[in-house]
Amino acid sequence: MSAPPPPPARAVAASRVEMTKIVLPQYANALGNIFGGEVVAWIDMCAAVSAQRHARTSCVTASIDAVNFLLPIKLGHIVVLKSQVNAVFTSSMECGVSVWSEDPMTGVRSRAVTAYTTFVSVDAEGRPQPVAPLLLETDEDRRRSSEAHTRRASRVALRERLRRSS
Ligand SMILES: CC(C)(COP(=O)(O)OP(=O)(O)OC[C@H]1O[C@@H](n2cnc3c(N)ncnc32)[C@H](O)[C@@H]1OP(=O)(O)O)[C@@H](O)C(=O)NCCC(=O)NCCS
Repeated sequence: MSAPPPPPARAVAASRVEMTKIVLPQYANALGNIFGGEVVAWIDMCAAVSAQRHARTSCVTASIDAVNFLLPIKLGHIVVLKSQVNAVFTSSMECGVSVWSEDPMTGVRSRAVTAYTTFVSVDAEGRPQPVAPLLLETDEDRRRSSEAHTRRASRVALRERLRRSS
């Protein structure tokens, strides 16, 4: 029996997600800023939608790295998360996420958090499976993909070290 045809390539734009939240009191810490772990959960969710829009399969989080909290996000602020697939490898994809804090009174938006996530496309048994190629249509797409390939090399090396030490 012949192997199934590879999935069709999809453009970066097809994976873009914008998710909007508001910082309610239950998400805030004692200083009146959002609790960092809550933002990470939102980052994971936003990126998961990007990965699934690209792969059109179930996808699981393999890693979240380079989480940088640049500014505190205040109670009552609007939070806008933006994500997209930056690069596709074999069964895995890197999604980039930026998180913006919007003052509801002025509309001024500031970039507050950035992160990279890696998702793996899995079959019904949870086994990794090849994901559709990514169509790089713009210079920005190509730059992000090239940088993602560089970051992947570090992740693969780290995983290898963790495997050897466990
Ligand atoms: C992620 C997972 C499916 C990988 O399965 P595995 O049997 O180790 O598979 P492989 O070693 O063949 O790796 C599969 C892909 O994942 C990538 N990967 C695995 N761990 C990774 C990590 N920590 N960071 C980045 N990529 C990783 C590999 O590089 C490989 O990529 P490629 O196919 O594009 O080359 C498995 O470890 C798992 O199920 N983890 C738990 C996921 C989870 O529960 N997430 C939280 C809830 S959704």
